[in-house]
Amino acid sequence: MANSCLAGITCALNPILILILLGCGTLVGCSNLDLDTRLGDSDNSLDDVYGSAIDRFAIGIAEEGSPSHSASYHGVSQEILRLAKLPETVEWLKNVRRKIHERPELAYQEFETSALIRRELDEMGIKYRWPLAETGVVASIGTGGPPFVALRADMDALPIQEEVEWEHKSKNLGKMHACGHDAHATMLLGAAKILQERQHMLQGTVVLIFQPAEEAGAGAKRMIKDGALENVEAIFGMHLAYDHPTGTVMSKPGPLTAGCGFFKAVITGKGGHAALPELAIDPIIAASASIVSLQHLVSRETNPLDSQVVTVTTSSGGDAFNVIPDSVTISGTFRAFSNESFYRLKQRIEEIIVGQSLVQRCAATVEFLEKEYPFIPPTVNNQIMHDHVCKVAADLVGSHNLKIATPLMAGEDFAFYTEVIPADFFLFGMKNETCGSIHAPHTSLFTVDENVLPLGAAMHAAIAERYLNEGKSRPSQFSVADTSILQ
Ligand SMILES: *[C@@H]1O[C@H](CO)[C@@H](O)[C@H](O)[C@H]1NC(C)=O
Ligand SMILES: *[C@@H]1O[C@H](CO)[C@@H](O)[C@H](O)[C@H]1NC(C)=O
Repeated sequence: MANSCLAGITCALNPILILILLGCGTLVGCSNLDLDTRLGDSDNSLDDVYGSAIDRFAIGIAEEGSPSHSASYHGVSQEILRLAKLPETVEWLKNVRRKIHERPELAYQEFETSALIRRELDEMGIKYRWPLAETGVVASIGTGGPPFVALRADMDALPIQEEVEWEHKSKNLGKMHACGHDAHATMLLGAAKILQERQHMLQGTVVLIFQPAEEAGAGAKRMIKDGALENVEAIFGMHLAYDHPTGTVMSKPGPLTAGCGFFKAVITGKGGHAALPELAIDPIIAASASIVSLQHLVSRETNPLDSQVVTVTTSSGGDAFNVIPDSVTISGTFRAFSNESFYRLKQRIEEIIVGQSLVQRCAATVEFLEKEYPFIPPTVNNQIMHDHVCKVAADLVGSHNLKIATPLMAGEDFAFYTEVIPADFFLFGMKNETCGSIHAPHTSLFTVDENVLPLGAAMHAAIAERYLNEGKSRPSQFSVADTSILQ
């Protein structure tokens, strides 16, 4: 997940599950932003949300069918896991991940990473389309016909200098895979290898989406515009989590990550001598009043059960002890789990800054920077897709390793896919003290437990294969991608 690249904050509702938040990247037509109204009635208490999720999760497992049905899937899962754990596969996975790790590239510059992925696909004899969204790759395996199910990985790195001292430390100064996207891309390649070997078992087509620019620039949105979801009826995505043991799977139906946006305000007064305030109009006071008032938005105007955040992250103006500056600039981020709450925050942020500035005789302009930092909608998991992931995980890692995820205030651009087709985004634990994989994403010490690579590859592969092969028994409640909302 992408954190805000702008401010480098990881806003996680629950510190246990810090994902990397999305930098809300660049959307051109933000008016099209489809922050989700499905979240409109987010008044449920958390107990209700978790209670019902857990109930349904239990039902999902119980409904799995006759014992022989589950047993046969269990056999398939074990076979997939066996392929993933073959020593030569594990060695290959580690090598691929280390190569990507050594050469981190930022959003929309993933040229070497994309080339490496294509080389590996070529070697496996897998067909792909390229480029989508500059560097994106969309591969497919299977019959070439419907149903089509997609798996997604991101490829971009962060502008962070790696401080982990190891043989495969980043060779690109000031850039680092500090969010695990190197491992995400590798695990998807691992799934490609397994699925290619099991091609004859696939009753449909698996679409593998390697996307650029998750951290900044809304790569997912551009991938969709460029046709990544053509014919695709469902999509799954995974993110490593440093705070749960290796092999733990966490997901939840409904909203998982928040919608996020950014703002920047310039508050203008009239500069002057600090000793003669009566001759100046002090923008520092207006900025201070605005910052304090912004805190009341969530504390006083918001339903406490509808999680939202407004954080001011920068404040700059003036550079002398004895001069009142002409203007002050403040900026920050806001987050919410529903379209309605998101746009209410946006409107009130502007009203508060303009209004408080006026009280202090200043003028203010507020911008939402949608071009540079497009709004990211909330990630909303589909119940049926969530149940599917739970069933696969129960087989593969055991139901004791399955947890209901806590929603996060972080942003994740997988959200764009969830707006278009049924989807499930889940977290995959990789905490392992022996390997030092205990550091939060978006930090210079972030480390991946490579033991997760075969497990993640197997999860991806099993999710897709089982999805296709259970096609006929799944409720047909949805149609293929409607990308018209993104035009
Ligand atoms: C979200 O709210 C904004 C502002 O009220 C509106 O323009 C937009 O159409 C809404 N989007 C959705 C998906 O409901
Ligand atoms: C943690 O890492 C060590 C060293 O690689 C490994 O032996 C151990 O199996 C790992 N634990 C898990 C749960 O994967």
